[in-house]
Amino acid sequence: MTSPHPVIDHPEVPAALAEIINALSTAAIDVNAIIGHGPLGQTLGAQVGENTDGDTQKALDVQADEMFAHALGQTDVRWYASEEQDIALELNPGGACAVAIDPLDGSSNIDVNVSIGTIFSIFDAKDDAGASFLRPASEQLAGGYVIYGPHCALVVTFGNGVLMFVLDRDSGRFELAAPELHIPEKTSEFAINASNRRHWQAPVRAYIDTCLAGADGPRGRDFNMRWVGSLVAETHRILSRGGVFLYPGDARKGYAQGRLRMVYECAPIAFLAEQAGGLATDGSKPIMSHKAPDLHARIPLVFGSAEEVREVERAHADDTKALEA
Ligand code: F6P
Ligand code: MN
Repeated sequence: MTSPHPVIDHPEVPAALAEIINALSTAAIDVNAIIGHGPLGQTLGAQVGENTDGDTQKALDVQADEMFAHALGQTDVRWYASEEQDIALELNPGGACAVAIDPLDGSSNIDVNVSIGTIFSIFDAKDDAGASFLRPASEQLAGGYVIYGPHCALVVTFGNGVLMFVLDRDSGRFELAAPELHIPEKTSEFAINASNRRHWQAPVRAYIDTCLAGADGPRGRDFNMRWVGSLVAETHRILSRGGVFLYPGDARKGYAQGRLRMVYECAPIAFLAEQAGGLATDGSKPIMSHKAPDLHARIPLVFGSAEEVREVERAHADDTKALEA
């Protein structure tokens, strides 16, 4: 059931953006409720079928997209760009903002009761969708995500630190739980899909090899590895206790720029990472300095604890130097 009250009513949320964050949060509460029913509710994953009444059921990612678009249609949003749609939609021609969204991130985890999420990025609206979204990530007004996990949390930045709200299931409102998330500078935990090792480029392999060498290698300490397979869940872990995440480009067909999308995945995650005191890079340039060439463009993403992100950048720089020599 949609909450009739603002789900966030807090002085830390800038007034101009509050309405949009509230609309996103209200829809997220509804998405969370559907996810919470698991297999007792509707079909969640990619399979689209019929319910017991014979109504057609949509995959949850498509349904979530419709729910967010509908909710944002009631606000000052002009352009709506979604992973689920080829081109941006114009919701309100007079609207002042542009919202890019990954309505349901972590699709391989939808059916297995592992945390998934919604990622969003907000810009001021220009006269056309391209100009609104294909611009430096540093121009974002806000970026954040909702994680649907053991608890549901909204994590957001407006460019002045990172706030975390947790959904109070009794009141149906998001309550401020942490006014300032901070990613520790140092970590001994990395996240990468290691099954792709043979496809990686030399600097990524070199960096991960030093982590795996642990106390016996040049880093002089052991590292631990985690890979959830949901970008939102990895981000939440890193914002909670530090860590470094890598989804690099690799030699597989179609993966030269990695897997993750610049506009509605990497840009907002990079904004959060930097605002929490961490870093985000493509290996050599900050993600925040990039602009996407098209709405669904991919970009290699490395983010998290500053010391490790710098190590990854160093591995790339060393590789470039070696090639030039
Ligand atoms: O949105 C893409 C995504 O589902 C991310 O949430 C996750 O980090 C990544 O894909 C996992 O990719 P892979 O299955 O290649 O490890
Ligand atoms: Mn995603």
